[in-house]
Amino acid sequence: MNKAETIERLLPEIGSPRASGEHFAPSNIALCKYWGKRDAELNLPVNASLSVSLATLGTRTRVEPIDAEQDQVYLNGLLQAPDSRFADRTRRFIDLLRVNQPQLAFRVDTHNNIPTAAGLASSASGFAALTRALVEAFGLSLSPTEQSVLARLGSGSACRSLFDGFVEWQMGQREDGLDSHGVALPASWPQLCVGLVKVDAGEKPVDSRSGMQRTVETAHLYQSWPLQASSDLARLHEAIDSLDFALLGSVAEQNALSMHATMIASWPPLLYWQPQSVAMMQKVWQLRREGLALYFTMDAGPNLKLLFEAASRDAVLAQFPGIEVVEPFAAGAA
Ligand code: PMV
Repeated sequence: MNKAETIERLLPEIGSPRASGEHFAPSNIALCKYWGKRDAELNLPVNASLSVSLATLGTRTRVEPIDAEQDQVYLNGLLQAPDSRFADRTRRFIDLLRVNQPQLAFRVDTHNNIPTAAGLASSASGFAALTRALVEAFGLSLSPTEQSVLARLGSGSACRSLFDGFVEWQMGQREDGLDSHGVALPASWPQLCVGLVKVDAGEKPVDSRSGMQRTVETAHLYQSWPLQASSDLARLHEAIDSLDFALLGSVAEQNALSMHATMIASWPPLLYWQPQSVAMMQKVWQLRREGLALYFTMDAGPNLKLLFEAASRDAVLAQFPGIEVVEPFAAGAA
C-alpha cells in the first residue's frame, strides 16, 4: 500500500482549496521512543511510543493558494531553495492532497518558535502544523485522529504532535495504517519540567529515517528493541497513573539509552553523541548520586532533554545555566 492509496481511503474526495489556513502544533519529546518502521513508505512503526508535547514550543504554519508555477516555501521568513530538503519534504507532503490538481501552488510560511539554541528538531511540530493548516485550507472534515494519521505520512513522530500533554502513538495493525495514530492520555502532571540542553544545533549527518533503517537492517541488537519498548510503555503508564517521577525518569532514560545502543550496534556504526553529550550524561548521573531527582532522554542527535520536577528547577538551572525549560502541563501551557 502506498501513501496515495491511504489518502484515498482517508479522503475519498478532495476539493479545491478554499482559502488560506494557519495553525500551530507543539513539538514533542518521546519518553518511549519510536525506532524502526514496519512499513517505510507509510511510516508505520515497529513499536508503540509515548511522548509529552511541549505546550507552546513548536511550529506555526500558514498555507495560501497562489497563482504561481510552483510552491514558495518560507522557513522563519526566509525563502527556501526549491531543491532544499525542507522545501522538498514540504512539497511532497502537499502533493498528497493535490493528486487530482497538480497545477495547484501554495505559499507556505513556517515559523518555529523553538530556539535554535535548544537544538531541538522540529519535523514533528512542522508536519503537524502543516497538516492542520492544509486541512483548514482545503476545508476537509477530518477528526484530530484522522489528522494524526495524515501527519504521520509526513514524519512518524508528527502524529503525536496533534495532541497536547502525554500522547501514545498506537502502532495499529492495519496495512493501510488508519489505526496507527496518536491518542491523548487523560493525565496531567503539573510539576513535570523538560530542560533542553544544547550540545550542537547543527544539521545531523544521518537523519532519523535513514538511521532507523540502518539499525533495523544491520543491528542484531535491534531484535530486543520491541520487547524493551513494550515493557517501557507499560511502566510509563504506571508512572503516569501514580505520578511516580523516579519511575518515569528512569524508564525514559533507560529507553533512550537502549535505543542508542541499537544504533551503536549498527553497521556502519551510528553514534550521535559528541564528547559533550557524554559529559552531560555523566553530570546528570553524578547529580543523581548526590540526591537530585534528574533524568535525561535523547533523540537521534547529540542534545539532551532533562526531565525533572518543579521542586528541582532552581537546582537544575544552577547546574545547567541558560537552558530552556518547558512545563508541559503548567496552567495555560496547553
Ligand atoms: O519522526 P522521525 O522520523 O523524525 O523520527 C523520530 C525518532 C526519534 O525522535 C528518535 C524518536 C521519537 O519517538 O521521537
